[in-house]
Amino acid sequence: MSNNNNVVLITGAAGWLGSLLARTILEDPKSPNLYLILADILKPEAPRGTRAITIKADLTDKTQVNTLFETDFGVPDTVYCLHGIMSRGSEDNFDLGLKVNVDAVRLVLDAARHQGASAGRLIRFIFASSLAVYGGPLPHVITPDTIASPEGAYGMGKLVSELLINEYTRRGFVDGRIMRLPTIVVRPGVPSAATSAFLSGIIREPLKGVETTCPIGNSLDSPELDLAAWLASPETTMKNFVIAKHIPSEKFRAHTRVVCLPGFTATVRDELWALEEVAGKEALRLVKFKDDPTNRRLVSSWPARFDNSYALSLGFVVDEGGMVPVVQRFKEKVQAGVA
Ligand SMILES: NC(=O)c1ccc[n+]([C@@H]2O[C@H](COP(=O)([O-])OP(=O)(O)OC[C@H]3O[C@@H](n4cnc5c(N)ncnc54)[C@H](O)[C@@H]3O)[C@@H](O)[C@H]2O)c1
Repeated sequence: MSNNNNVVLITGAAGWLGSLLARTILEDPKSPNLYLILADILKPEAPRGTRAITIKADLTDKTQVNTLFETDFGVPDTVYCLHGIMSRGSEDNFDLGLKVNVDAVRLVLDAARHQGASAGRLIRFIFASSLAVYGGPLPHVITPDTIASPEGAYGMGKLVSELLINEYTRRGFVDGRIMRLPTIVVRPGVPSAATSAFLSGIIREPLKGVETTCPIGNSLDSPELDLAAWLASPETTMKNFVIAKHIPSEKFRAHTRVVCLPGFTATVRDELWALEEVAGKEALRLVKFKDDPTNRRLVSSWPARFDNSYALSLGFVVDEGGMVPVVQRFKEKVQAGVA
């Protein structure tokens, strides 16, 4: 049983970022004696040697959500709300996207509000949002004042949840921290249902010696390859997830807890250059092209340039050196058999 001072609940803990976070947060010197509650619709794995409870739960079900706050570890002081249906998944199955990306977030939020109140604490509620909240005509560079008007079901769901978290924070129900994530590359494993999955796939598969299809453009010379994306590496993202837990609440802007996590701009062509630089022409030859207009429309509607200064002023960190170090680190993981 914990003293309830360092109990972290991660939803979506069987997913990529959730499972990475479970491992990363254990190394956080500012979170000693950590107790982890790991929940997902798929049974999450606990990092070895940790005080962790893993719970298989469908978070669209209120009763199952409540169990996460009623374990032997007591009421968590921090919730990382990471469960979700990715962009293409939400676009293709609108009802499921709403259920998981909005309704289930509200259930977790409400449980945090009520259970936190019963335990006499304001639970930190850290939410993984996305740059997909932006759409329509946008300025060249997104600033904290740019209005978000999504052009897809995924971004809409994230924005609805953001509004709820901001309102719950304003009312003193939770201490919300909303991180609008760049697209995180390079994702290991099999391709996800994200529209942006190819941004990882065109690096990951060739580094594994496997052919892949780039859905942007029809050849290496296509002008469509100039499509730019806003990216961050998983290593930097994990540092920022941990930093989000420790930012004093008074440092956020008064009216919103939204922060666009720092990232960098790279075009599809920049990614392919980085692949060639790190792994040579042979790797590049494994990238085939078949333009997918739906995919291209969605990714093109997302912004690719942000002003990082507000996030950096809060203490968040940024990748240095663009795509090449990101590809290099992933190549090392492939060679070590951990990608
Ligand atoms: N990876 C990225 O580039 C990126 C970018 C922006 C935002 N995000 C957000 O970050 C979060 C984590 O992303 P990820 O890449 O780890 O995604 P992921 O798909 O690997 O993980 C999401 C997890 O949510 C779980 N889940 C889905 N429905 C559920 C339900 N009903 N009940 C319980 N669990 C359920 C899934 O089983 C999965 O394990 C997501 O909310 C995502 O929208 C990710």
